[in-house]
Amino acid sequence: MAYRALITGSSSGIGFEYAKYLSQKGWSLDLVSQDKDRSLESKQNLQYEKAQFHTFDLGKRESINSIINSFETPDLLVANAGIAINGAIGEIKQTEKDYYYYLMCGGVIDLIEGFIPKMTEKNSGRIVIISSIGATTAMPKSSLYSSIKSGVHAYGRSISTELQDKNISVTVSLPGYVKTNAHERAGLNHLKDKVPWWMWINAKQVVIETEKASIQGKADVIPGKVYKLVRPFLNFNSAIKVWRKITKRN
Ligand SMILES: NC(=O)c1ccc[n+]([C@@H]2O[C@H](COP(=O)([O-])OP(=O)(O)OC[C@H]3O[C@@H](n4cnc5c(N)ncnc54)[C@H](OP(=O)(O)O)[C@@H]3O)[C@@H](O)[C@H]2O)c1
Repeated sequence: MAYRALITGSSSGIGFEYAKYLSQKGWSLDLVSQDKDRSLESKQNLQYEKAQFHTFDLGKRESINSIINSFETPDLLVANAGIAINGAIGEIKQTEKDYYYYLMCGGVIDLIEGFIPKMTEKNSGRIVIISSIGATTAMPKSSLYSSIKSGVHAYGRSISTELQDKNISVTVSLPGYVKTNAHERAGLNHLKDKVPWWMWINAKQVVIETEKASIQGKADVIPGKVYKLVRPFLNFNSAIKVWRKITKRN
């Protein structure tokens, strides 16, 4: 049987690795990102005839509506597109806040809810949301990011339960530090030196562990051994202090 996946944020990092992973399994792919040049570059890197490349600004409601109205219903929807947001309290303008919230939370919900009725009709489907370990711990100077990622985490966990009898699984992935372009794009290049090597995981590992959890129907997953180990401690004051020191924003 031929499966179809829709992956947002597919031009680099975790989204690109997801596309690569599924291409090796023969899936048909709808790949969405924003920048035309980067999309073309990812097309050249993927070299896969069963992939279609689309460019939309997912921070805009009309883009989400176009996708829902014109794309085939996927067997797997990976809501991954996003950016790192760096900014202390009050530093981010209202228009930017609204945009980020739609890109990584409101738009994710709209996209998922646009496809759920069609998945329900098919009586099958998988949904993966890429959140962040930042959804579960304090992130000073990235509080907006943390709140957005908490929002999609809570949403994903809730609908995972709600959809249990419809044969649709929902899995929220909570990665820690992943080696991608995200930090450099957000002006957080210093983290590459500051965060110790053992805290970085690669995008392929995120994909493998997330896919496994999704196929098993798990509501959430933390990729990487180190993060699985530290998660229970992340709400202790002493652990938060160490975490803050290591990941301090400039
Ligand atoms: N890297 C980490 O340490 C880390 C940790 C936890 C969670 N995450 C999450 O993982 C997801 C993927 O990030 P990544 O690390 O793989 O970063 P990345 O390499 O920078 O990839 C981000 C992807 O999202 C797309 N994107 C960004 N803004 C968009 C927009 N307005 N419209 C459409 N597409 C847009 C980018 O497309 P363009 O190339 O066209 O801009 C790119 O394909 C994000 O949600 C991020 O928050 C990352």
